[in-house]
Amino acid sequence: MDKVTVEICCGTACYLLGAARLMELEANLPEELKGKVEFEAKACLGMCNDDRLGGAPYVRVNGSEVIANATPDAVLARIRTLLEMEDL
Ligand code: FES
Repeated sequence: MDKVTVEICCGTACYLLGAARLMELEANLPEELKGKVEFEAKACLGMCNDDRLGGAPYVRVNGSEVIANATPDAVLARIRTLLEMEDL
């Protein structure tokens, strides 16, 4: 894995429920993670209409893994875990 990719949904539902805070992650990334994560703002990822997925805001990591009710702390924790797994 080159970098962890983090797609942040900035569609209306996700934006209203906290995507703006998630977008600040890139600027506030801890020093040890800089250069290892690629952020991308996305239009609606199409998950906000499906209650089974957990709730907005949604973040998609590495193209497939979905974090529902995403918070900056939850996204950072997932990034750290993925990078540590890569080091094993
Ligand atoms: S607005 Fe985020 S999944 Fe639709």
